Amino acid sequence: MRVLVTAKLSEEVLAPLRKEHDVEVNTFERPMTRDELLRGVGGVEGLLSMIMDRIDEEVLDAAPKLKMIANFGVGYDNIDIPAATSRGIWVSNTPGVLVDATADLAMALILAVARRVVEGDQMVRAQQWKAWAPFLFLGTDVSAKTLGVVGLGQIGKAVAARAKGFGMTILYHNRNRIDEREEQRLGVRYASLEELLRQSDFVSLHVSLNPQSKRLIGRDQLRMMKPSAFLINVARGPVVDEQALLEALEQGVIAGAGLDVYENEPQVTPGLRKLNNVVLLPHVGSATIETRIKMGNKAVENLLCGLRGDTPPNCLNPEARQRS
Ligand code: DGY
Repeated sequence: MRVLVTAKLSEEVLAPLRKEHDVEVNTFERPMTRDELLRGVGGVEGLLSMIMDRIDEEVLDAAPKLKMIANFGVGYDNIDIPAATSRGIWVSNTPGVLVDATADLAMALILAVARRVVEGDQMVRAQQWKAWAPFLFLGTDVSAKTLGVVGLGQIGKAVAARAKGFGMTILYHNRNRIDEREEQRLGVRYASLEELLRQSDFVSLHVSLNPQSKRLIGRDQLRMMKPSAFLINVARGPVVDEQALLEALEQGVIAGAGLDVYENEPQVTPGLRKLNNVVLLPHVGSATIETRIKMGNKAVENLLCGLRGDTPPNCLNPEARQRS
């Protein structure tokens, strides 16, 4: 069968796919344009898509033979799942394998904003560092502070476990409160979103993007946070109202932010780039060599399974009735 892979992946990852199928890969160091994607899906049965590919009705209509979409990522808000389901197309994601890498990056952002790592680096590079001084780049302690984890899924739990190592108190907010014994095991306490925002020194977002979580953190929520608190987002940009965040950062409503994701990637609300109290990363939560290989292997495994006609292990819509 014909398979389109919308971004370059390692040949080691693609080898099993090439063994069974005719694989076409976008080898440019850029995402496929909308036109390229619409043309590219034309005769394919399998699609290995990236999280920035918008797979909507238009793309699905342009792919009359499509049976299976394996998304390279745990988030799948880029894909219209009901539209795929109604066309008998299975969709899979890559859960589990990027938990540690993403949790590590959340901790990196917490430490970076608290300890002004980027500002310090910039000063040294610019040869502006003149001498050690008692007040140079004073940051704030991370140890023994309160971390609020919004969304206690696998990544949220992994962040909580890391934060425990820093002696932090962990509050969490989740759609469903977890079992009390599990709370004790993880050392976390449930809080309403408002309580979490009011009490936390660091608020770290780990919810998936859906209509309920869109702009979960807006002007009102930012105003509930302490003026000394930091917001960390390694989840999805649209969970935060970026303009409201910019204003909050400019006006000192909160102390700072560490962002890996944005509302309109790769665009960043321009004012953010001018602020020193925000660390900006280009959506690299899962970007480690080991993790990207695991994500690729998982996507390929799902795709191979789906193209053989078996429900893929990480199928998001097993109810999709397969096209013959
Ligand atoms: C995901 O898998 O959803 C991540 O955002 C990719 O880095």
